[in-house]
Amino acid sequence: MKDYKIAPSILSADFSRLGEDVKKVIDAGADMIHFDVMDNHYVPNLTFGPMICESLRKYGITSMIDVHLMIKPVDRIIPDFAKAGANYITFHPEATDHLDRTINLIKDNGCKPGIVLNPATPVSYLEHCIGNLDMILLMSVNPGFPGQKFINGTLEKISSVRHLIDNSEREIRLEVDGGINLENIDKVAKAGADTFVAGSAIFNSDNYKKTITSMREVLSKIK
Ligand code: DX5
Ligand code: ZN
Repeated sequence: MKDYKIAPSILSADFSRLGEDVKKVIDAGADMIHFDVMDNHYVPNLTFGPMICESLRKYGITSMIDVHLMIKPVDRIIPDFAKAGANYITFHPEATDHLDRTINLIKDNGCKPGIVLNPATPVSYLEHCIGNLDMILLMSVNPGFPGQKFINGTLEKISSVRHLIDNSEREIRLEVDGGINLENIDKVAKAGADTFVAGSAIFNSDNYKKTITSMREVLSKIK
């Protein structure tokens, strides 16, 4: 079996008691925390920044934190997220003027870089940077809001990127984000993803452990 990772998006967590809710989802078996940063500029919504990430670390969250930046510009805030305890930092290539510079900035600050492709953003963005990436995140909804419907056209894109990753001979996580739930996680995995962001499917469920365990059971049956 592949080294599958489940990354709950805290966009659907209870912000009034965030530390507690994040701890609960980790105790329920989450592998890493997906931290959605929105700026009401690159995307039409506003969430949280490095101070909240740091607060989670201070609260005692030790799991990997996967910071998904939906912000423009990107570079200014990267060192702050690194200091705040981020592990992966992913960003949208359309949101920076200098793709290679932003990737190197993330690495120089001790984090693992990744780029995020929106549903209509071409895979060709990867051509000259794949050798420098630790994660590729494919959006299966348009970024900005939780609880949207999975866009099926993403499946083909997942397979093409899986191919590119295998040919690169690098260890790059292939993460998919948006509308993933118990019903569709198997087709996302079969297409080639190994890291699954799920916000509403986990945080809006009555029992986080039951939901994550059921997702893992589905994944364990994939050959
Ligand atoms: C959307 C975010 C996602 C979102 C996923 O812009 O990047 O991480 O929270 O939420 P669900 O799983 O509810 O689609
Ligand atoms: Zn996200």
